[in-house]
Amino acid sequence: TLRDDLDISRGDVVAAAHHAPAVADQFAVHLLWLDRAALLPGRPYRLQLGTTAAIAQVTEIKYRVDINTQEPLAAKRLELNEVAYCNLNLDRAIAFEAYRDDRTLGGFILVDRQSQATVACGTIDFALRRAHNVHWQHLALDRRARALAKGQSPRCLWFTGLSGAGKSTIANRVDQRLHALGYHTYVLDGDNLRHGLNKDLGFTDEDRVENIRRVAEVARLMTDAGLIVLVSFISPFRAERDMARALFGEGEFVEIHVDTPLAIAEQRDPKGLYAKARAGQLRNFTGIDSPYEPPLAAEMQLSTAQESPEVLADRVVDYLREH
Ligand code: ADX
Repeated sequence: TLRDDLDISRGDVVAAAHHAPAVADQFAVHLLWLDRAALLPGRPYRLQLGTTAAIAQVTEIKYRVDINTQEPLAAKRLELNEVAYCNLNLDRAIAFEAYRDDRTLGGFILVDRQSQATVACGTIDFALRRAHNVHWQHLALDRRARALAKGQSPRCLWFTGLSGAGKSTIANRVDQRLHALGYHTYVLDGDNLRHGLNKDLGFTDEDRVENIRRVAEVARLMTDAGLIVLVSFISPFRAERDMARALFGEGEFVEIHVDTPLAIAEQRDPKGLYAKARAGQLRNFTGIDSPYEPPLAAEMQLSTAQESPEVLADRVVDYLREH
């Protein structure tokens, strides 16, 4: 029984005042990966530590350990049964202990948010000190003031689909229409961002995860600034599109599936990339030897095989008017 009224719920920790566990949201951890699908840094998983749950991302694999020689090895992803030392970032601070001091508050599992399978177990080595030294800087002008000055409600229109599906063509037209109507917009295009911000990234699964993480953060900043931002990226994985969605408020993120059958995209092949991929000159090409996971519940689905880009762009503008 507590003397004072305190809001305590599952996952909270009651401790002796002179022996309280520390609280942090970034850790150095040992991980054992247990899933057939590789661990991809940047992808969100659910962390369970004691009775606490949080969303966790591996921000860096420091090294993988050769289990026969104990030697540290460089790694960009973790495969089944591999062991590694990593940095882990949580979406909120939790009470913890180092595993060497307390197995209950120092050990955790990671769970895949879609399949609900346990994909890793791990132990906390220590909290990263940067977690204590970086604070959120409060700004006097908030996002509402910035949106109000532009006379609009910020939106993130997220176009996803195969290469050659028509994402950029439609996004471009929507952008022009909105601009002509006096709205403040910006287009983030996969090909263009890969010339600058994302020029260090290729097309492996782990690079695509990081590609989407970055553009989602940029899109969030742009909606904070009051803009209607159009994102045109293949964004082949559901997990990363969901991560992007989670950055935005209710109704602000509009997922638009530019749905073009592979055969039609391949027939169009505007950049000649499908031909190269089929000829084995381009590895990890989406739809050929790299997967595309279509949305299950997108706000809009545009069938480019049936209708022209003009008509589809009008439908997007109509949708925005109605919402
Ligand atoms: S994403 O999968 O990471 O979202 P993004 O939209 O940034 O991809 O970039 C896709 C563009 O890169 C395509 O339009 C195409 O022009 C080009 N590209 C080059 N190599 C590949 C590849 N292996 N797979 C897909 N697109 C590729």
